[in-house]
Amino acid sequence: MRKKIVAGNWKMNTLPAEGVELAKGVVAGRGEVCSCVNFIVCPPFTHLAMVAEALKGSDVALGAQNCAAEAKGAYTGEVAASMIAALGCKYVILGHSERRQYYGETSATLNKKMEQAYANNLTPIYCVGENLEEREAGKHFDVVKAQIEEVVYNLTEEQFRNLVIAYEPVWAIGTGKTATADQAQEIHAYIRKVLADKFGAAAAECPILYGGSCKPSNAAEIFAKEDVDGGLIGGAALKAEDFLAIGKGFAK
Ligand code: 13P
Repeated sequence: MRKKIVAGNWKMNTLPAEGVELAKGVVAGRGEVCSCVNFIVCPPFTHLAMVAEALKGSDVALGAQNCAAEAKGAYTGEVAASMIAALGCKYVILGHSERRQYYGETSATLNKKMEQAYANNLTPIYCVGENLEEREAGKHFDVVKAQIEEVVYNLTEEQFRNLVIAYEPVWAIGTGKTATADQAQEIHAYIRKVLADKFGAAAAECPILYGGSCKPSNAAEIFAKEDVDGGLIGGAALKAEDFLAIGKGFAK
């Protein structure tokens, strides 16, 4: 049985006090959703300590949206994996398309970030996904394959067993456009095959999340697919009620 996960990527939204309220709302309503669903919230760095406090005593986990490629030192403005781990993070989102696109993150950088995450007992939520041009040219399979081969293939099997993948088609992020459930299943199954080519049977245990305009009205249909193990949620994670309602989308 693979883990079912609903993770909220708050991106650069909410002020710290609003983030605390949001986290408290998730904790308060969490009991209405199956305990089989693992909820994760990923606020901005500035909110982590306060949100950690708000999550205390609940089973809602904390994640960060990024970490530095280096362990420590003279890297002005960066935040080390050890720092976020010390604040109570269990997860870190790495390789989000916004980081690849706006901050020039390459596979070389991501390999170093993955190493830092594992060195600090964080579970990476590694994002892959194609842009619109690549989808229209039918290159989406090749794009996600390369993103996996260049980074995930460098992991040990032990590290791989502690990894979450998020498939996020760039054309569906924040656009209101969602991949259809069939499109999601097709590429999730492909991703699992690419993982199995390297890691064998362990690939069957790896949670693969869908991300891209996932909301209460479409989550159930997408999550019902065999190889979809949950979602990485942007906009809809900013309202506790919507975020929790997405978790109710698990019928299996
Ligand atoms: P939206 O849910 O706002 O489309 O964002 C998805 C995403 O990028 C999550 O990481």
